[in-house]
Amino acid sequence: MSDKELLVTKINYGTVIDHIPSGRALAVLRVLGINGSEGYRVALVMNVESKKMGRKDIVKISGRTVDEKESNLITLIAPNATINIIKDYEVVKKMKMKVPSVIRGILKCPNPSCITNNDPEAFTKFVSISENPLRIKCDYCETTITEAEVIKQVL
Ligand code: CTP
Ligand code: ZN
Repeated sequence: MSDKELLVTKINYGTVIDHIPSGRALAVLRVLGINGSEGYRVALVMNVESKKMGRKDIVKISGRTVDEKESNLITLIAPNATINIIKDYEVVKKMKMKVPSVIRGILKCPNPSCITNNDPEAFTKFVSISENPLRIKCDYCETTITEAEVIKQVL
């Protein structure tokens, strides 16, 4: 590991989300529902040099792991992210996820007349049509949304 990466020290137990496109670390925390009040120790590294991607962000969360469902959601804003589960200072699991084929309940349909915006009982359901660039489609009214719209909704 280079000295630059040691900007933030290694963690004992928790999750390291690496290879996040630069500037999106906060959006990653947002999809995980972490705002600081939970008490986890969180380190954000933003706009550091990366061999693979120019600049990247890294998020380190001590004391909390990330499950498969959350890992899937992270791909919506960080398609190439690597999710490292850390135990006793070692990487015990390294996950690279794909955009899920169905995304339920987290995003809103931008079409005001969509049933999901009018029936209080309805949950949103989007299906993935393209991973890179990201495009997903409302399963009810076929409105498509792009990565920019997803980020806007998450932030
Ligand atoms: N990491 C950490 N604390 C640990 C172990 C690892 O914060 N106890 C961080 C590393 O700094 C790195 C990420 O977790 O940002 C992944 O660690 P590792 O797999 O050792 O690094 P690389 O081999 O560089 O990962 P990749 O191949 O995914 O780029
Ligand atoms: Zn819709």
